[in-house]
Amino acid sequence: CGIVGYVGTQTVKDILLKGLEKLEYRGYDSAGLAVIDENVNVIKEKGRIATLREKAEATDADGTIGIGHTRWATHGVPNITNAHPHQGNEKRFTLVHNGVIENYEELKTEFLSDVTLTSDTDTEIIVQMIEKFADAGATPEEAFRQVLSKLEGSYAIAMLDANDSDTIYVGKNKSPLLVGLADDANVVASDSMAMLHVTKTFVELMDEETVIVSREGVQIKKLDGTTVDREPFTAELDESDTEKGTYAHYMLKEIDEQPFVIRNIIQQYQDEQNEIKLSKDIRKAVGNADRIYIIAAGTSYHAGLVGKELLEKVAGIPVEVHIASEFLYNQPLLSEKPLFIFISQSGETADSRGVLVNVKKAGLPSVTITNVPGSTLDREADFALYTYAGPEIAVASTKAYTAQMAVLSILAMDAAIAKGIDTDFDAIHELSIVANAIEVLTDAKDEMEQIARDYLLETRNAFFIGRGFDYHVVQEGALKLKEISYIQAEGFAGGELKHGTIALIEDGTPVIALATQQSVNLNIRGNLQEVVSRGANPCVVSMDGLNRKGDNVVIPKVHDYLTPLASVIPLQLISYYAALHRGCDVDKPRNLAKSVTVE
Ligand code: G6P
Repeated sequence: CGIVGYVGTQTVKDILLKGLEKLEYRGYDSAGLAVIDENVNVIKEKGRIATLREKAEATDADGTIGIGHTRWATHGVPNITNAHPHQGNEKRFTLVHNGVIENYEELKTEFLSDVTLTSDTDTEIIVQMIEKFADAGATPEEAFRQVLSKLEGSYAIAMLDANDSDTIYVGKNKSPLLVGLADDANVVASDSMAMLHVTKTFVELMDEETVIVSREGVQIKKLDGTTVDREPFTAELDESDTEKGTYAHYMLKEIDEQPFVIRNIIQQYQDEQNEIKLSKDIRKAVGNADRIYIIAAGTSYHAGLVGKELLEKVAGIPVEVHIASEFLYNQPLLSEKPLFIFISQSGETADSRGVLVNVKKAGLPSVTITNVPGSTLDREADFALYTYAGPEIAVASTKAYTAQMAVLSILAMDAAIAKGIDTDFDAIHELSIVANAIEVLTDAKDEMEQIARDYLLETRNAFFIGRGFDYHVVQEGALKLKEISYIQAEGFAGGELKHGTIALIEDGTPVIALATQQSVNLNIRGNLQEVVSRGANPCVVSMDGLNRKGDNVVIPKVHDYLTPLASVIPLQLISYYAALHRGCDVDKPRNLAKSVTVE
């Protein structure tokens, strides 16, 4: 979910809506806003911000203070009743919340047994309790802090008081939240992108802090009421970084940006002597580790799988890759000197952050690889490496994935050099070849569109197979296809399909095979024959184009270790066009959110 708030001199409705549009990537099941003029006006809608905008623009209600929310449902189905903002029964307080309150049943029983609740959300409990505490004599600020002290779980909260059109009450624990400062206004936002149209100056909030945001200024306090001083920082983004320009979809724009992203990474990680530029501390942390544990979710996890191959093959460091949500509750035995690498586009994924909190408690070293400087994982890990891909807005990750793998390849090579390993793998040089290859591949849009039409327009399912590096890429290819086109897609190790899943192959079932790895090309071609003889419709992505039946996608020659950065491009494009021609909402697939800040 995403939240915004504004208190200042301008009318607020459009400012909030613009902010919510920028936060829509965090969830878009329903949305709402509250503005105070003579009254507290709450406007809510199911579905997208565009629908909320229509409804909001049709009302006269406006003011110079307000809050807004875009939701990714956790408690309660996405409908208008469960949409935020929520109010207490007396309608004095109005509140938006991002996160999950784990003890909400207990709180309901203890404090609200005599209160009739209107929604199914954990959020309503918070606002009803605040109203009750205020009724019992607490000031709004006291009631706010008292109730927040009782919450277990994650929250980013903004609250209005109907009796006070100068204050937004803000609180944060685990879920991200920033306060922004401008000359004539102060604002609240889940991330800085949402309020760049008001200010570039922001203040970070730490867990269990509250803020009184008014026109005159902001005051940060801990839950016990003690005041906190913190210097603001300047967001380095421009509003134009988050526009999609002439593109129909962010996803296509972001696919096309990949050559520039790789070149940017080369620049950022190279010094004037053409040596790899990496902080001594990170070098030391990697050098000291007897095993690396990569922790990530979704597409970043898939980049981690490739990272493992790179770090093991290039630098000889043993690596385990773990899905964050699994690691969190089922920690494996650790080596004596582990190093944790968190990979996260957003730097906000709650599952990954949960692991980082434990890693820090255990006093173990950590590095975050993220696209968002200043994000929670960036701030909280010992060290960070940035992917410099620019804001990624489409829910389906593309450029962040290739950028993560590029950074991992540089890290692997640096570690190899530091260990005195004689490697002929020159990551920087090979990445520049990859950037050119990606350019060739992104130019082949018509061809990919045709493949999407031929293979994927009518099908119920699709299978992807590959071995070695290709196996990791097909997992990502399958995820891309299913998340945006809703075709049931799976990525398999080439040899594994015959151990069960081959039963699903029927006449015409699409099977996309990756065959970029010289050492296993013959095996994967054998696997392809097994499915073709059972009726599969094959398409092969390789560097030589040797498929006898079906289509060939030929990718330019790149180093074996970096093929994932090239071979994923056709898979991204095929998924894009499959989703487009099946009439799906490419940038905002159903049920998903780009940044999942709940565990
Ligand atoms: C969500 C997104 C995925 C993403 C995953 C991890 O589920 O829909 O596209 O890969 O989160 O996100 P992160 O920001 O940690 O890389």
